[in-house]
Amino acid sequence: MEQRSDALVVFGVSGDLAHKMILPSLYQMVRRGHLNEPIIGVALDDWTHEQLVARARDAVTRQFTIIDEAVFQRLAGLLRYVSGNYKEQATFDKLKAALGTSKSPLYYLAIPPSLFGSVAEGLSQAGIATGARLMVEKPFGRDLETAQALNRDLHKVFEEDAVFRIDHFLGKEAIQNLLYLRFANAFIEPLWNRTYVESVQITMAEDFGIKGRGKFYDEVGAIRDVIQNHLVNVLLLLAMEPPVTSASDDLSDEKVQVLKAIRPLGPSEVVRGQFEGYLQEPGVAPTSHVETFAAVRLFIDNWRWKDVPFYIRAGKCLPVRATEVVVRFRRPPVAMFDTVGPDEANYVRFRLGPQVMIGIGARRKAPGSQMIGEAVELAALDDTTDDMLPYERLIGDAMDGRRQLFTRQDAAELAWRIVEPILDDPSTPETYAPGTWGPATAMEGFAPPGGWVDPAA
Ligand code: BG6
Repeated sequence: MEQRSDALVVFGVSGDLAHKMILPSLYQMVRRGHLNEPIIGVALDDWTHEQLVARARDAVTRQFTIIDEAVFQRLAGLLRYVSGNYKEQATFDKLKAALGTSKSPLYYLAIPPSLFGSVAEGLSQAGIATGARLMVEKPFGRDLETAQALNRDLHKVFEEDAVFRIDHFLGKEAIQNLLYLRFANAFIEPLWNRTYVESVQITMAEDFGIKGRGKFYDEVGAIRDVIQNHLVNVLLLLAMEPPVTSASDDLSDEKVQVLKAIRPLGPSEVVRGQFEGYLQEPGVAPTSHVETFAAVRLFIDNWRWKDVPFYIRAGKCLPVRATEVVVRFRRPPVAMFDTVGPDEANYVRFRLGPQVMIGIGARRKAPGSQMIGEAVELAALDDTTDDMLPYERLIGDAMDGRRQLFTRQDAAELAWRIVEPILDDPSTPETYAPGTWGPATAMEGFAPPGGWVDPAA
């Protein structure tokens, strides 16, 4: 059993991510009795403890509307604040004083990656890195080279076993379900290969734009923002071999095997789009070529998946907000019966958000005197009302030293290798009207056999 971290230090506590995700998650952890350790927020702002508590109250109220005052007071009692510049050693000395007798804190870097190196160095200089864990946010680099450089910087101070690279998708209940469903049931396995699976498609649709994050988004684009990490991770859970055990390294080993077998993407395996109006967003360059929509076709050159196309499509300003996977099976070899209605059947559909759902598309006989069939979907829907928030699960796991939901160095680097050839394409992406399914002309003919399945709201 790993030793639990005895304090949580959040760098970037005054930032947007802390406000939207981290502070509400800390409240939930306290509410469930999952967090009793001191929480030290660090940021440049010259705040008092009261100001941090007020910020936390605002963050929690926005997320939950009604808050349990007793829980909030427990959270406020755990919070401390250290203000300082991450490039000045004095900040880390103040942090050391605030940590008091803590021997094994978890440092959570919710700050731009360009600062990771100086924070690791500052912690080391202050003598508060040994015995600690480090959790880092995406984007983990912007290509293979920068990811490798970041890894080198972090490894100067922290062993790989102490580094927790976050992909918040892996903290989602639905994504955990995917892993569970695949490896806790035997009936799926005989079908889960190139003999029976015709194609796999993963769609991540968002019905909103870049929400004022123009400066960030314009340096990133859809491929870096969600495909290289979130959606490749979903693909890995679908495609990996059964791990020997559920231990973190066994899971990572299998993911790495798939990553090694994925062919790097070439120009004919990608379609890029940009929503109309993107160039007018604050912070976006007026001639930007950055994509707000991308669809890619991946092939995994191994025994299980050779020649089965894996499609991923993601975009901003699409008609709905939904993330779904559809695994489509090959048709029966002989069509014995007539059918009516849409020819949709033979698939498994995983709804990964906002709701959690598993649906099996099958054909059944339509009522009546003739042997005519129709498509039905057998659906299992999960109640998601009190699900753990992704960050709640991930912070808790990192504090406990559980590494299953985090990305190992080799996996992070291999994922960059796959998308690298299609990054920073200087051509102008085709535009699409907000509320449509992306650039229609560019997408012509770029679809899994049987077509895309557009998720419903
Ligand atoms: C983030 C991306 O990592 O994931 C955002 O930067 C995206 O652009 C978000 O909107 C989606 O996360 P979720 O949990 O809302 O599906």
